[in-house]
Amino acid sequence: MNIKINENFKNIKETYLFSDIAKRVNAYKAANPGADVIRLGIGDVTLPLAPAVVSAMTGAAAEMGSKETFRGYPPEYGHEFLREAVASHYSSMGVSVPSSSVFISDGAKSDIGNIVDILGDNEIIIPDPVYPVYVDSNLMSGHRITLVPGSSDNGFLPLPSSLKGTVSGAVIYICSPNNPTGAVYSAEGLTEWVSFALKTGSLIIFDAAYEAFITEDVPHTIYEIPGAGSCAIEVSSFSKFAGFTGTRCGWTIVPDGLEASGVKLSKLWARRQATKFNGVSYPVQRAAEAALSPEGLKQCRANIEYYRANASLIASLMRSKNIYFTGGTNSPYIWLRCPGNMSGWEFFDLLLNRYQIVGTPGEGFGESGNGYFRITSFGSREATEQACARLADL
Ligand code: MLT
Repeated sequence: MNIKINENFKNIKETYLFSDIAKRVNAYKAANPGADVIRLGIGDVTLPLAPAVVSAMTGAAAEMGSKETFRGYPPEYGHEFLREAVASHYSSMGVSVPSSSVFISDGAKSDIGNIVDILGDNEIIIPDPVYPVYVDSNLMSGHRITLVPGSSDNGFLPLPSSLKGTVSGAVIYICSPNNPTGAVYSAEGLTEWVSFALKTGSLIIFDAAYEAFITEDVPHTIYEIPGAGSCAIEVSSFSKFAGFTGTRCGWTIVPDGLEASGVKLSKLWARRQATKFNGVSYPVQRAAEAALSPEGLKQCRANIEYYRANASLIASLMRSKNIYFTGGTNSPYIWLRCPGNMSGWEFFDLLLNRYQIVGTPGEGFGESGNGYFRITSFGSREATEQACARLADL
């Protein structure tokens, strides 16, 4: 064909991290059909949806099957009942977010990937290692990226003070609790980022997808930090909190006060969504609303407790082996230093070939992930116990 393609795609890896891992695991399974492989790689939930969620979803599906209650296209930014429910969720965390700032979507990954549509060619600042979508989506748009390295020295919580040179009008991605490291910023750490953003006229894109796993006294939302309403967009999701990885629903908060070049970012995001997105189905939005109801929250939190107990099994194993790790307390992820100075991919191969366990190599999350490895607690209790038993002789 005589067309031009987006040449920026040449700057990203050919395969998305988790597709690459799935391909390798499938090849291993094909070569070893009898192998009992335990998958603790991608952070995909395994517990079924909470009963309150299922009941709301089936009720809404029944409404769709009746002439009187059938609904066509959903509103582009989400049904008002769900936008209100998300706004009340923020009130319960002690911050005020009007429902008009809540944009419902099919998940945090899409919103994080799509937000680049409304932003120009800014410097992009990303703590490393990090969820690959931040880097890939910006590379696809040809943006300049500055990585801020995380390490065992800063507990994988880099601060703006480690940035070199002058920053003006950058877009800064922060994920806390962090994927993949499970490390979580204190209020002081986030205050440093917010002050830096305000001082440099930058925008923070805050990924709160793992907020429900927080157990310690640290911020659950960036809006707990004074000034964040003037410099931060927050993206969050029902995937990990309510087990919606296969159901798909999330939200993005674009505060009314965010403005650049005389234009409100909320207006740009609304325009982008109205053009390229047709909303989340009614039964899923009712299900999401139910997840935020008192009964739904109780049931979803019980599921999170279950995963947390898995995380503590993995963490105990790491302690018993004297392996350095972060995460597991405020996060479903354990981020460990590979034993014997192995690279993440070497450790991946060892775990798969010797123990039939799948995890995620740290390199997949960026350069600073070299020599590290991520294990998720989203498996079943049986699988997690079995994995820990297999690793007893690691
Ligand atoms: C992960 O394993 O990092 C996540 O499950 C990926 C995602 O949320 O898209």
